[in-house]
Amino acid sequence: MTIHEELQQALNEQVTAELEAALVYLQLSYALDDLGLVGMRDWMKKQHKEELDHAERFSQHLLDRDVTPQIGNISAPIVKVETAIDAFEAALNHEKMISERIRRLADLQATHRDYDSRPLIDFFLAEQIEEEADIDEILDRLKLAGTEGSGILRIDGELGRR
Ligand SMILES: [Fe+2]
Repeated sequence: MTIHEELQQALNEQVTAELEAALVYLQLSYALDDLGLVGMRDWMKKQHKEELDHAERFSQHLLDRDVTPQIGNISAPIVKVETAIDAFEAALNHEKMISERIRRLADLQATHRDYDSRPLIDFFLAEQIEEEADIDEILDRLKLAGTEGSGILRIDGELGRR
């Protein structure tokens, strides 16, 4: 089944959005490395790789349906990070934006009755709930630890073992 132009364009933009998310996580990994939080740095690097995989899933779907994906413009993310909380808040904000985009894909899928893309979009609807919940939990724990160094280092150690 051919994809409706509007949905095709949105899926294509999603490839770019996932690549941009990968860069956000990479940048956050640099900031955390700078803060000496190597466990959190590694956590962000894993997210970076996951986002690359997400981009691949969307582009593979387009390829399977005879559409050549086209990567759009990506500008390097500028995120101001002074603490671990700043880094995870930046990650959460970005994920919320991605979740909105996935909901829009679901809208388009329903409008154009594109049943073929439904499993892919359903997967990402569920994935986004998990992504946001995971980061939210980390933020709650970081806030509990406050500025207490040993608490933050303990969380850092746990995240590094993920
Ligand atoms: Fe993603």
